[in-house]
Amino acid sequence: MAAMPGPARLALAVLALASVLPAYRSDDLNTDAQALEALRKAVGRSALPSWNGSAQTCQWQGVACENGRVVELRLPGAGLMGALPSGVLGNLTALRTLSLRWNALSGPIPDDVARMTELRAMYFQHNAFSGEVPAALYTLRNLVRLNIGQNRFSGEISPDFNKLNRLGSLILDTNDFSGEIPKLDLPTLEQFNVSYNKLNGSIPRKLRKMPRDSFLGTGLCGGPLGLCPGETAETPAGSPEAQPGAGGGAADVGGGKKKKRLSGGAIAGIAIACVLGLLLLLALLFFLCRKKKSSSAPRSSAAAVEKGRDLGMGPLDGEPKGQNGNGVHGGAAAVPAAAAAAAAVAAKSGGGGSTAGSKKLIYFGPMAAAPPFDLEDLLRASAEVLGKGAFGTAYKAVMESGAAVAVKRLKDVDLPEPEFRERIAAIGAVQHELVVPLRAYYFSKDEKLLVYDYMSMGSLSALLHGNRSSGRTPLDWEARSAIALATARGVAHIHSTGPTASHGNIKSSNVLLTKSYEARVSDHGLPTLVGPSFSLTRVSGYRAPEVTDIRRVSQKADVYSFGVLLLELLTGKAPTHAVANEEGLDLPRWVQSVVREEWTAEVFDQELLRYQSVEEEMVQLLQLAIDCSAQHPDRRPSMSDAAARIDEIRRSASSSSAAQHATTADGSPAAPAPEGDDEPSL
Ligand SMILES: *[C@@H]1O[C@H](CO)[C@@H](O)[C@H](O)[C@H]1NC(C)=O
Ligand SMILES: *[C@@H]1O[C@H](CO)[C@@H](O)[C@H](O)[C@H]1NC(C)=O
Ligand SMILES: *[C@@H]1O[C@H](CO)[C@@H](O)[C@H](O)[C@H]1NC(C)=O
Ligand SMILES: *[C@@H]1O[C@H](CO)[C@@H](O)[C@H](O)[C@H]1NC(C)=O
Repeated sequence: MAAMPGPARLALAVLALASVLPAYRSDDLNTDAQALEALRKAVGRSALPSWNGSAQTCQWQGVACENGRVVELRLPGAGLMGALPSGVLGNLTALRTLSLRWNALSGPIPDDVARMTELRAMYFQHNAFSGEVPAALYTLRNLVRLNIGQNRFSGEISPDFNKLNRLGSLILDTNDFSGEIPKLDLPTLEQFNVSYNKLNGSIPRKLRKMPRDSFLGTGLCGGPLGLCPGETAETPAGSPEAQPGAGGGAADVGGGKKKKRLSGGAIAGIAIACVLGLLLLLALLFFLCRKKKSSSAPRSSAAAVEKGRDLGMGPLDGEPKGQNGNGVHGGAAAVPAAAAAAAAVAAKSGGGGSTAGSKKLIYFGPMAAAPPFDLEDLLRASAEVLGKGAFGTAYKAVMESGAAVAVKRLKDVDLPEPEFRERIAAIGAVQHELVVPLRAYYFSKDEKLLVYDYMSMGSLSALLHGNRSSGRTPLDWEARSAIALATARGVAHIHSTGPTASHGNIKSSNVLLTKSYEARVSDHGLPTLVGPSFSLTRVSGYRAPEVTDIRRVSQKADVYSFGVLLLELLTGKAPTHAVANEEGLDLPRWVQSVVREEWTAEVFDQELLRYQSVEEEMVQLLQLAIDCSAQHPDRRPSMSDAAARIDEIRRSASSSSAAQHATTADGSPAAPAPEGDDEPSL
């Protein structure tokens, strides 16, 4: 075991885990051997001396077998020459990897490749293949890697590539493809290359996130290549920014400023920034004029505007002008800054119908005895939008004292006051070191504010899916498993407060990080505050299949969401929210399909795979994630069991890595694995 290379051990572990034996057809090794012989006759000539009767087929150069079938054929740079004959490769029906790159093969790809239904990887680059890509190729639904670059393929790039919906890389560079790129929408596509083809037109929306290098030497425009003729900078037709982002709860309190998938929040932020910049300028001018007139003027409302700029909460000292305070949920919502300003006025006026006493922040926990700030301090704070979530918009508010808090403005909360206060009290009663505490709240008819501790390192979602290139420390096993454990324990504590107590909205943007990257669970209980009109689609991706009412999420449904979060930690993939007509990635289903079909190491985040000493633990955590995200609630473990299992897995990881350290002279960590390469064994 110890001598095996990492990926092989991993493959074995996952194999054992999958425990589903693939069903083979009546074809056998003999069929495979005949096909290989025929291949050698046609294109191998003298190239494959070891392919002769004196050795077992499975020992031939480039051939690998499993369960008595040829599953891999790798002949890179083997001097193969000529056209692939028909009716040969297709007989290798158990083949999963076919590498014929860097040879002198010519002619078309034969149609019978369609019979290699198990094929995951096809590397045909750097040959002299020509003709159109055969329709048969689009039936290979299991393909994850397809490289037919550096050949002489011609014709248009077919929209049928969309049928290969498990593709992770699609390399078509340096061929004679012409026309426009069709609208490709491949959910797991990471590598794409159409450089040096005779393509023109606009790069389709979903491919615009690919780097410039993917489109070199073409007549294409848009995305990384700059604007197409007729596109404008503000609204590039179909640019990534114009996508409906994961607005449905992508960011919550303290979620950090996200560059990706935050179009709603980002747009709101930009709009607010613009309007407020203008306001600030006006206020400054006004203030300077006043100062000239009388240098000892009392604190003017303009100055208050300046200070209170972004909670958008307007002047506090001046009386609200006009009675537009109840426009919060009206048309003003279209312009976030205006809405926020109106909200401020509403808050200021105490909201229609409330008593004067309700204009206060109500504190929870230890702070209740000595409130460190009041509503006025909060409204006077400068603020910045952190993100828009399913339940409202989160701001970072910095008060004059320098203290920062996260403020969440709830939307769609139409509970009667007594009920709201009862439910918020239950939320505030949860005080635990692993749960971001709700410090205080404000309630009026039109405005509900929640005040949380501000978490400076943002959310797990931002950390996992944010910009990976520039100076970001990779998240290793230790960090990820610690985050998993803290989250599990935090949620388990919430569950321990009552048989129906649940978090209700577990997802990576609700796991926040302290300065030392310790995880804290945030935003628990918020679903209990919303009205029946709340749309379920706003929280998809993590939602358990049985949940039909977001206000009643069971503890087992929390466990499901936690399972998805674990999968996200392990795979580095986001369970994207189904927004508008965009279909999200069903992470549990994806992982199960991949694991069942033994496409092992593909599952894990490449960044995580660099840490080789912990594969078994990674697989154990994967198993737990799969258990947690079981379709049937009864088959999921309890949250406290999940926490205990993670703790155990972490212990075994640290003892095995300690043992490993003891054996290396300098105690340095294991050498990093090679980058996630197409063909690690070549
Ligand atoms: C491929 O299989 C078919 C039967 O399925 C057989 O008739 C044919 O001879 C095989 N071809 C080669 C090259 O082995
Ligand atoms: C057959 O292959 C083996 C290596 O597997 C080689 O040693 C032997 O010389 C080959 N025989 C012939 C006749 O080419
Ligand atoms: C792309 O090129 C073809 C042939 O050169 C031409 O007919 C077509 O109009 C071009 N399309 C665009 C969008 O430029
Ligand atoms: C795409 O292929 C071209 C030509 O082989 C290469 O120069 C370029 O770096 C590739 N781009 C990516 C993103 O791999």
